[in-house]
Amino acid sequence: MIDSAASAYAQRKGLASDPHRPGYHFLPPANWMNDPNGLLHWKGQYHLFYQYNPDAPVHGRMHWGHATSPDLVHWTDLPIALTPTPGRADAGGCWSGCAIDNHGTPTLLYTGVDPQVVCLATSADELLTWQYYPGNPVIAGPPAELQAGTGGDFRDPFVWKEGEYWYLLIGSRREGVGGMLLLYRSRTLSTWQYLHPLLVGDARTLQPVWTGEMWECPNLLTFGDQRVLLFSVVGAQESDLLYPLYVTGAFQDEQFYPQAQGMFVHGGYFYAPQVLSDDQGRYLMWGWLMEGRRSSFSQEAGWAGVMSLPVMVAPLPGGGLSLEPVPELATLRGHHWQDDCIELEEGMTFSHDDMRDDCLEMLVAVEPSDNSEFGVKVRCSPDGQEQTRLVYQSASRRISIEREQSSLNPAVDHGNCSVGVEADPGELLKLHIFLDCSVVEVFVNGRCYLASRIYPERRDSLGLELFARKGSVRVRSLDTWRLASIWNI
Ligand code: FRU
Repeated sequence: MIDSAASAYAQRKGLASDPHRPGYHFLPPANWMNDPNGLLHWKGQYHLFYQYNPDAPVHGRMHWGHATSPDLVHWTDLPIALTPTPGRADAGGCWSGCAIDNHGTPTLLYTGVDPQVVCLATSADELLTWQYYPGNPVIAGPPAELQAGTGGDFRDPFVWKEGEYWYLLIGSRREGVGGMLLLYRSRTLSTWQYLHPLLVGDARTLQPVWTGEMWECPNLLTFGDQRVLLFSVVGAQESDLLYPLYVTGAFQDEQFYPQAQGMFVHGGYFYAPQVLSDDQGRYLMWGWLMEGRRSSFSQEAGWAGVMSLPVMVAPLPGGGLSLEPVPELATLRGHHWQDDCIELEEGMTFSHDDMRDDCLEMLVAVEPSDNSEFGVKVRCSPDGQEQTRLVYQSASRRISIEREQSSLNPAVDHGNCSVGVEADPGELLKLHIFLDCSVVEVFVNGRCYLASRIYPERRDSLGLELFARKGSVRVRSLDTWRLASIWNI
């Protein structure tokens, strides 16, 4: 339990020497974390709540952990915000939900289990402690006419204000049909009127992306008349297919008119994103980065789950989303290697002798050339036995993360992932890479985001190298920074 700042510090210190534990991504002091919850920018502080099992590094009786940051980079652990409590509608767990500013009163709407219902809590002390609303649950389950087909799946309320009403979106499913987001309306936050499904998926078709059988964690982003829905898709009950989707469109007369949809984060580890809009008018998104190793390894390690970097999200004019890490992360930059105009012929590599670390940021700008394969190796052992490769193939315009050699441990994930990158003719290929021990995140030309996990075994797997394995490429510029840990331990 985080009962005080001192015990959180002691837990962090106890795990600090774990070579797989990230240094500048947020994660709890110990044990299990999944979704970001209740994101709110309140009086200059960014509040991050998260699905937290304080008792073990496995999903269990879920609490809401809490941390704040003045700058999106450095975080302070605060006491647990929500605890499942016998006799209440959240006795079985406090699952995901959102935070809003109700005319000066910080208010949480979250999922109480079991059964899955919507609960409300408010804070009178600047978000530190939370009072459970005595009239909970404020929504006692799916609407009667849909109840049977949902199997009781009804969770993760997202609330926003529009005109004179509060609106609430919640994730659910319709048996034999697909995932579904249900729309409610209220003036008071405590009494809700069910309106209709705002969007329903189709689990029978694969075009353009399979939308799965259940939808979780909805968010609605507003950019003038343009809206973006983000939600998370669950595959079949027993499958481990989990990924977020976006749908752009218009919201008029309480209906949603979809335009474009697709996947927006690739790699298979980023899930259940939530957004906040900050006082600069930016939409900032965090997602849960799942582990890529067996649960027994996480249990041995004493922790599981990492928060992604904060990412700015906006719709692009031709469809798709612009995705960029927040500029505030530049405050982490330490030692800098700067190189210009590196010509790499087929089979050549480039590095600096001292360019070795597991906490790094790299910006690479490459001139596009026909039929070349160019890449960056990270976490590379001196003999190359362990290495993870990020590779761009110009002919197919695909970026891949190749993990076959990422770890000598055969029991961690080694699968590759590859995704097409859209680029305008003549546009430079710009890779923005963040490496943080077991986390790799790559932003490509501000519109493609990949996140993956790697678990090198060797302590000397710290090398970094550019390479051309087919054709030749010209690297216009290469900036590499060592990044500092955010925990003062
Ligand atoms: C998504 C999710 C949510 C749920 C929470 C429980 O990862 O399954 O739908 O509220 O996690 O921890």
